[in-house]
Amino acid sequence: MRVLRETQFAGLTPAARGKVRDIYDLGDKLLIVATDRLSAFDIILPTPIPDKGRVLTQLSLFWFRLLEDAIPNHVLGATDFPPPFDKFKDELAGRSMVVRKTQPLPIECVVRGYVSGSGWKDYRTTGKICGIPLPTGLSESDRLPEPIFTPATKALSGHDENISFDRAASLVGKELAKKVRAVSLEIYSRAAAYAEQRGIILADTKFEFGLLHNELIWIDEALTPDSSRFWPAAHYSPRGPQASFDKQFVRDYLERMQWPKTPPGPELPPEVVEATRAKYREAYRILAGRELD
Ligand SMILES: Nc1ncnc2c1ncn2[C@@H]1O[C@H](COP(=O)(O)OP(=O)(O)O)[C@@H](O)[C@H]1O
Ligand SMILES: [Mg+2]
Repeated sequence: MRVLRETQFAGLTPAARGKVRDIYDLGDKLLIVATDRLSAFDIILPTPIPDKGRVLTQLSLFWFRLLEDAIPNHVLGATDFPPPFDKFKDELAGRSMVVRKTQPLPIECVVRGYVSGSGWKDYRTTGKICGIPLPTGLSESDRLPEPIFTPATKALSGHDENISFDRAASLVGKELAKKVRAVSLEIYSRAAAYAEQRGIILADTKFEFGLLHNELIWIDEALTPDSSRFWPAAHYSPRGPQASFDKQFVRDYLERMQWPKTPPGPELPPEVVEATRAKYREAYRILAGRELD
């Protein structure tokens, strides 16, 4: 299987290149190609991680299917690609999906079951997360009494900003905000219960939704290591940060070499690449219940 840092298809220009995905416009559909790019501290590193794109795509397909009775998703297919993309089947296979093109909602739908990351920061300074009052005395990585919906803006560059439910409602409308909150909490809870049985804590995750002919559709990626915090339950120890499931080797390496966290990112040594690749594959194996082939 080839490593892919960036798609280069002669004569074809992507509509967008995100941090991880290259997106081609097919009219009423999109071709979304998950590359092997890895970003750390919001900066894309020059070294790709073999298998990462396939893990993201196959794991997303797994969750979309598992949860399709809760909400329709954007997937149309992931094995056949329309001309002229059929010529590039070798590069696309396993890492790409043809999806319905929707109008993405301008919010990130984050659900948290644990206090971590920007949620912990928010709680430490305000005693709340996104304006939601919480019990006093919570520590970093503690489990919340119940999962909470903590939306964020979709920043075009850099860091997303946590917002209140009312602010989200002003961006998408109150009815729709209530609907995405309910569905986000439902799919988070089902996924978290599923993951917990397999020894993985789903601490939090980010969903995206889009509209098509007034229908609400789950888009983008689903419950991957890139969009979620996975913590091995066996090593869970609250009252402090948890090691990142997938990026711990990369982060440790970057801290050791004292990279200033400004572009350009440094190349990763082979042992860091291999360890990171193994973690992505492990996430797939544990959650999907089979080896990535
Ligand atoms: N079905 C869809 N319809 C419209 N836009 C989509 C759909 N699925 C995903 N997207 C958009 O495609 C992009 C995915 O590329 P990605 O590399 O994840 O970008 P980012 O750097 O913004 O995370 C996101 O901007 C996402 O909102
Ligand atoms: Mg993304």
